[in-house]
Amino acid sequence: MRILLFSGKGGVGKTSLAAATGLHLSRIGYRTLVMSVDPAHSLADAFDLGDDLFHTKTGDPFPINERLAIHEVNIQKEIKRHWREISAYVISVLRTTGISDVEAEELAILPGMEELSAMMWVNQFRREHVYDVIVLDCAPTAESMRFVSMPTTLEWYMRHIFPVQRGLLKAVRPIANRVSPIELPTDSYFANVQDLFAKLEGIDELLEDPKLTSVRLVTNPERMVLRETQRAFVYFSLHGLTVDGIIVNRVLPAEVNDLYFQEWRASQARILEEIDSYFSPVPVKRVALFTHEVLGRERLDDLARALYQETEDPAAVTRTEAPFAFVKRNGHYEVQVKLPFAAKGEVGLFKKGDELVVEIGTLRRHIGLPTSMAGLSPSRAKLENKMLTVEMREV
Ligand SMILES: Nc1ncnc2c1ncn2[C@@H]1O[C@H](COP(=O)(O)OP(=O)(O)OP(=O)(O)O)[C@@H](O)[C@H]1O
Ligand SMILES: [Mg+2]
Repeated sequence: MRILLFSGKGGVGKTSLAAATGLHLSRIGYRTLVMSVDPAHSLADAFDLGDDLFHTKTGDPFPINERLAIHEVNIQKEIKRHWREISAYVISVLRTTGISDVEAEELAILPGMEELSAMMWVNQFRREHVYDVIVLDCAPTAESMRFVSMPTTLEWYMRHIFPVQRGLLKAVRPIANRVSPIELPTDSYFANVQDLFAKLEGIDELLEDPKLTSVRLVTNPERMVLRETQRAFVYFSLHGLTVDGIIVNRVLPAEVNDLYFQEWRASQARILEEIDSYFSPVPVKRVALFTHEVLGRERLDDLARALYQETEDPAAVTRTEAPFAFVKRNGHYEVQVKLPFAAKGEVGLFKKGDELVVEIGTLRRHIGLPTSMAGLSPSRAKLENKMLTVEMREV
């Protein structure tokens, strides 16, 4: 199975391009699912399904043609399916603050539930071999980052916090339930957390395997959008995901020579050149600004034709090098992390338990070290040729 993740700044064209890619994949023979991970779903709207639209809101995949389905995750259904105990606990806590039941239920939709639910679906589809390709239509960059960092965050929680919390509660519950105004979580809450974790098992390896998962960054030829695309590239790399394609959408076509757009054309030309050299060797595709909105099956097909050659395979694996490597050189150990475009001053490093923690700006990644390196600490680091090399030594 292949997973293609479409991410980028708000409004750049992620949903349209993900939908068009789904249509193209189904045409060349792949059983394809386009799944919306954006809580503000607009995937079904892009297909302009008219009276059929409400069928797409059931929380299950909806068929578009014999090989293509679309799927908008329905958070209310997911809560009933997976999060019952967790949200029941959160609701009970919220109630003690005097909030009404309905409000408490609304508030109990915690950030991240949608993303985690989507991942459980991906995992389930992988096990069932229902689809050859899953195209993920992501929310704008920040939320996409939360999506991809969720498995490592959760694993960290399960390893470090969960056992402590559970053990502690066993000890304090008999007293705390008498004196605390807040009810403490029950055993079924913990069972639910464990069950959810089991459903997500393996998803991080899936996302970090370049033969399985690729990120396609969608951008527009504008300075502000490009900056966010560059940051997204760094963040995805830090999380171990492989970006293997950039799509520049809404490029002014050559035939637009109206004076009004003269300055736009000049700046787009400059930025396009910059994008090509910046992301090299990652291939960059360009898609023209259409004369109209891309709405409905036919126009999505037009977009697909603008994006791909007739027999081109968007699911082909083109980059396979792993984003992390643990190597032994001249008698000492090194961790190598590919970090294209990260600047020297913004990278932070420290060791925590048996993990190396890499920080870039506000993002943090815990890298689990192999046993041979778990006892070592970072002694020196250098950022060269798009690669962060951390030397590990005994302290
Ligand atoms: N090449 C194009 N030419 C003309 N219109 C386009 C093009 N690509 C996308 N659009 C239109 O731009 C609008 C935004 O596109 P889309 O919803 O795909 O962006 P998005 O990145 O998914 O947005 P969001 O961040 O809100 O999810 C839509 O109305 C779409 O039809
Ligand atoms: Mg969208």
